[in-house]
Amino acid sequence: MKILVTGGAGYIGSHTSVELLDAGYEIVIADNFSNSKPEVLERIRKVAGKDFDFCECDLCDKEALDKVFDSYDIDAVIHFAGLKAVGESCEKPLEYYRNNLVSTMNLCESMREHGCKKLVFSSSATVYGMNNTAPYTEDMPLSATNPYGWTKFMIEEMLRGVCAADKEWSVALLRYFNPIGAHSSGQLGEDPNGIPNNLFPYIMRVAVGKLPELGVFGDDYDTPDGTGVRDYIHVVDLAKGHLKALEWCSENVGAEPFNLGTGNGSSVLEVLHGFEKACGKTLPYSVKPRRAGDIATSFADCSKAEKQLGWKAELGMEDMCRDGWNFIKNNPNGL
Ligand code: NAD
Ligand code: UD1
Repeated sequence: MKILVTGGAGYIGSHTSVELLDAGYEIVIADNFSNSKPEVLERIRKVAGKDFDFCECDLCDKEALDKVFDSYDIDAVIHFAGLKAVGESCEKPLEYYRNNLVSTMNLCESMREHGCKKLVFSSSATVYGMNNTAPYTEDMPLSATNPYGWTKFMIEEMLRGVCAADKEWSVALLRYFNPIGAHSSGQLGEDPNGIPNNLFPYIMRVAVGKLPELGVFGDDYDTPDGTGVRDYIHVVDLAKGHLKALEWCSENVGAEPFNLGTGNGSSVLEVLHGFEKACGKTLPYSVKPRRAGDIATSFADCSKAEKQLGWKAELGMEDMCRDGWNFIKNNPNGL
């Protein structure tokens, strides 16, 4: 099978590309490097020990995307490409709506024109909004609290519409919880531009001395230690979920959401202490006010993915911290 991996040079896409190559899939990566670097492609080749084709292409450019489909006989698409920074999406809503929505509409149109109707889409736990209580199940009402989240909400709805109109389409809507960690080779990992917004990349930078201390956003939540609880999932476990979703797409039709998490929550301080253990250092932190828009607790009910995809996360916080440390230690200046 030949798989188009959009956004394959990014954090989750690069790890998934390695898993796909390992499993014997042929892949074509399309990316515009708006949030990644060309160097990643060589690293994927090195880690997987296999070659693949790459198209530098902005998915908002329909003609360029059509050329990709004209050049390769694509059987299915895994669609990672998108902008993902919540804060930035509030400052640049139009850029987020344009990039995430137009790219996905172009992709679906190109797929339809080329008779390709299997799609795995990167959705997010953010679609559960602020009014549900964890553990989240796929049938809960959806909402969003920022433009980024609304793009995921709208794309999910669009893809449900596509599947309702044409019964040959098969779309897995993968709702990721909090992917962290890195490939065990130390060659691939998360490398955000500028000061990280998310907890784990921030801790990694504190651990290598690039940032002075972690700010813990609130210690007065209704959680065991007062800090926010999230469902952190090892990025390699998450990557493997995509292979299971591709198999699901080959055997089913319709649009179906699946939570990909571990089903367990960890607090900010638990992650920090887990990382301290992995790197053998005490990491400085101070408590700051709550971050606007944050909720106390988010974690998944993953029983649907286990039952219907035959997928379950296997790695724990110790593995995530070990592999995250191994990555940042080897790449203190990023990729
Ligand atoms: P990432 O930014 O590392 O990767 C996204 C890739 O898409 C980048 O390489 C970027 O250059 C590319 N891209 C963006 N817009 C493009 C366009 N118009 N044309 C071509 N390429 C484009 O992000 P990631 O963490 O790997 O996330 C992948 C997907 O998963 C995103 O859609 C994101 O919203 C979603 N997601 C991520 C998380 C997370 O915590 N990392 C959580 C939930 C959902
Ligand atoms: C992020 C995204 C969300 C996405 C989710 C899953 C943001 C604002 N939200 O949320 O859209 O669905 O990941 O991938 O990016 N924290 C600190 N100090 C920091 C950074 C974070 O204490 O410097 C705390 C937060 O308050 C939270 C926890 O750490 O309690 C995790 O934060 P983060 O990594 O940003 O993930 P989410 O808040 O779950």
